Amino acid sequence: DKGNHRHFMEKEIYEQPEVISHALGQYIDFIENKVNPMTAAIDFAKVPSLAISACGTAYLAGLVGKYWFERYARLPVEIDVASEFRYREIPLSPQSAALFISQSGETADTLASLRYCKEHGLKIGAVVNVKESTIARESDAVFPIMAGPEIGVASTKAFTCQLSVLATLAIGAGRARGTVSEAEEKALVRSLAEMPRIMGKVLNSIQPTMESLSRELSKCKDVLYLGRGTSYPLAMEGALKLKEISYIHAEGYAAGELKHGPIALIDENMPVIVIAPHDRFFEKTVSNMQEVAARGGRIIFITDEKGAAASKLETMSTIILPNVDEIIAPMIFALPIQLLAYHTAVFMGTDVDQPRNLAKSVTVE
Ligand code: M6R
Repeated sequence: DKGNHRHFMEKEIYEQPEVISHALGQYIDFIENKVNPMTAAIDFAKVPSLAISACGTAYLAGLVGKYWFERYARLPVEIDVASEFRYREIPLSPQSAALFISQSGETADTLASLRYCKEHGLKIGAVVNVKESTIARESDAVFPIMAGPEIGVASTKAFTCQLSVLATLAIGAGRARGTVSEAEEKALVRSLAEMPRIMGKVLNSIQPTMESLSRELSKCKDVLYLGRGTSYPLAMEGALKLKEISYIHAEGYAAGELKHGPIALIDENMPVIVIAPHDRFFEKTVSNMQEVAARGGRIIFITDEKGAAASKLETMSTIILPNVDEIIAPMIFALPIQLLAYHTAVFMGTDVDQPRNLAKSVTVE
């Protein structure tokens, strides 16, 4: 049932505040402002490293997770798409743990990567939506994302729920490893607790801008997304979402890679979507944006209030989100990216929920 939405994808985008608040309730003690005790199956305090593998959007959630585990838990992370991971012959230590992220829990390559790690003696954790899935069954610890059924082929609420669960796991691992203090944990958890409300506000306020921007995007053949830090996986997620449902060619790049190639593509026909919250990377990303502007590129700037005030560059459009703590920025910045792809596809008249050539669950290699 789509309720009063035109597509399941739209419904699922708007469900995010609710499902995330439900999911966080499972992982967080909001009275103590602490992450709930972690599973005993994986000893995050002792593991020397973490392997993460997944496909598509789930992989991009894992890539954000890598930044968090490394930063908050000082835990080195090896991550790759499952189709590479399973064949790379990665030397793995049996003392390590591995996390597999999958909405369906049935993705063939992700399952094969899981089995590879199991054979090498690693402890296995599964971040899944479908709790009865094969990936969940074969894991030592299951971390449900509790997004509820996701029908749209383009993943939206599963992505932000995966991120939310990964954030709590990274904080919990940080506490176990003594790299996150009690005060830091409280502050991080408070930010997570605020997230659903902020998401609701953002979803309501940006919709008209996204809809009008989508008319512009629908005329384009190629779109480039740029970001740094955790906004880099988001740039790739933005590009993936756009190509999946609107069939417009899009690429997501680390902003710092611009001058190593993609800058050659820039002309007045090429929209460049820059994802840049006012974080420690902001100035660097803005200088990349200047390089785009100097070549006549049309910039769609997705930033926050501080970022908008700090940048004087002329853009085709600036989307201003509220200032939020760094830990929740990826979930908040995912919203304009999802809505932009959604409205562009609707405007172009594609089959949004069931885009051509794609399946919701990829159970063959
Ligand atoms: O069920 P999974 O999370 O394992 O699926 C992984 C990918 O197939 C999936 O995320 C795909 O990339 C989506 N269509 C993205 O929107």
